[in-house]
Amino acid sequence: MEFLDRPNVHIKDREYVIGQLEKMVADGAKKLQVVADFDRTLSKYKHNGHVCATCHNVLEEGGLPGEYKEQAYKIRDKYFPIETDPNLTIEEKTPYMVEWWTKAHALLEKYPLSKEMLHSMVAKSTAKLREGCTTFFDNLHASDIPLLVFSAGVGDIIREVIAQNSHMYDNMHVVSNDLNFDENGKMIGFKNAIIHVFNKNEHAVHDSDYFHNLSHRTNLLLMGDSLGDLQMANGAENVEAKLTIGFLNLRVEESLELYKSRYDIVICEDETMDVVNAIVNKILCIG
Ligand code: C5P
Ligand code: MG
Repeated sequence: MEFLDRPNVHIKDREYVIGQLEKMVADGAKKLQVVADFDRTLSKYKHNGHVCATCHNVLEEGGLPGEYKEQAYKIRDKYFPIETDPNLTIEEKTPYMVEWWTKAHALLEKYPLSKEMLHSMVAKSTAKLREGCTTFFDNLHASDIPLLVFSAGVGDIIREVIAQNSHMYDNMHVVSNDLNFDENGKMIGFKNAIIHVFNKNEHAVHDSDYFHNLSHRTNLLLMGDSLGDLQMANGAENVEAKLTIGFLNLRVEESLELYKSRYDIVICEDETMDVVNAIVNKILCIG
């Protein structure tokens, strides 16, 4: 398990991690399910030193009038530092996140977005999947392992980013903020209540058939980049082994101890899926 010894991989309790992993390896593919966040978990934070677009940023980067971008960036610049501040608790941050998503979505709804614009907006955007994401998707698909992509981003953008840069397989299920279009393909808002970074524990998916139908898959791999992502699999039933993998992309020095205390494995400033793929390969006995 030399992939756990990389200098940018941090583990508070190595014995625990190895124990969970050994059980997952022994139980194999049939018992595994995977839950992953999208922005800055499956997608990159930086590419060649430049910050990449989140789902919302894809809509801001081009295609809509410049004043939309200006106002959206102003909102983001106020709330993003709050989202990533290790000195504030989730309870303290949550009302600001509700404000952020509410303002951002209300602003977007004022502009003429249509379904047909999404393809080229994604194609021209700086959104990128992590290196090794396709291998990750391919391996889970080949072994028929369900992957829940649970995101506070925008579902329509996620599906488009994955389809354009990799494969959207039928074992993958996206739960996110989905755009609502009228019969002419004009965006008329969002379909459901807001999913922001810290209410992933409250989503209907936890009470839906999704986790119930997977209750025989008792081993769970969860990946995220925010501490809110740790709640994504709250509805999972009969969990026997669980490993949480946290990508710490920024404010590393000030956040590392906090991340180590919450995530089983913390991967710092790494734009690849190498460690995740090594773990999945081990469980699926690949290579
Ligand atoms: O997929 P995930 O749940 O990570 O998506 C949420 C991310 O989108 C947050 O980390 C936040 O920084 C980002 N975001 C954004 N612009 C918004 C709202 C959220 O870039 N208007
Ligand atoms: Mg994220």
